[in-house]
Amino acid sequence: MLELRKVSKTYTIGKASVTALQAVDFTLNRGDFVVIRGPSGSGKSTLLNILGLLDSPTSGSVLLNGETITYEDYDKLAVIRSRSISFIFQAFNLNPVLTLEENVMVPLMIRADISKDEKRRRVAEWVEHTGLTPYRHHRPDELSGGQRQRVAIARAMVSKPELVIADEPTANLDSQTSQKILELMRTLNAEQSTAFIFATHDPLLDSFAKNIYRMQDGILHLA
Ligand SMILES: Nc1ncnc2c1ncn2[C@@H]1O[C@H](COP(=O)(O)OP(=O)(O)OP(=O)(O)O)[C@@H](O)[C@H]1O
Ligand SMILES: [Mg+2]
Repeated sequence: MLELRKVSKTYTIGKASVTALQAVDFTLNRGDFVVIRGPSGSGKSTLLNILGLLDSPTSGSVLLNGETITYEDYDKLAVIRSRSISFIFQAFNLNPVLTLEENVMVPLMIRADISKDEKRRRVAEWVEHTGLTPYRHHRPDELSGGQRQRVAIARAMVSKPELVIADEPTANLDSQTSQKILELMRTLNAEQSTAFIFATHDPLLDSFAKNIYRMQDGILHLA
């Protein structure tokens, strides 16, 4: 479904340049459950941003269902992202003026193909799955770090994406909550072939992964 061919990424700041990815070849198929580990600065977030079509490579190509991505077609990219790909960022990116429930609804607001009732049903379902029903009218600043992380997870799931990309998704969660949410993700993975790709330091994720990769100095190895 998503393929990287010899993808390299170099960041240039003034005269200095940093190579964050070096000729990465990677294929992600429907139903994959992939974990990427590796030290800080090894290129994990850079890789996730390219897989999520948020950033373009310096060289190499990215193919989606066999079609090469052209980064100039910004509107097309935005549509692909909003329909097929969800992100769970470490920094949550919640909207501070919206309630928890409204934040979870955000990815569905522009979706004319889903009825209002279905939208409400999905939001209520994921707010419940993530254990947040009692806090549904709270705003982000009235929630703990772990609760905010769970809002970000619920928000990523309501659109039923084909691919969920998560950068350290369990970083702020206690192990019991992590376990519960990972089990839900595993069920979705099994029943709906939703693909998941995680960058993480959390060893709990290893027991859920189908494939574990290691990133080292911008080079991706199968672990
Ligand atoms: N926007 C940017 N501009 C310049 N350099 C960057 C940028 N983003 C990342 N880098 C550099 O690219 C390299 C890879 O960074 P990246 O964020 O992908 O690492 P990471 O594996 O996600 O690290 P961490 O585990 O700390 O999140 C690092 O050397 C980093 O300093
Ligand atoms: Mg990172």
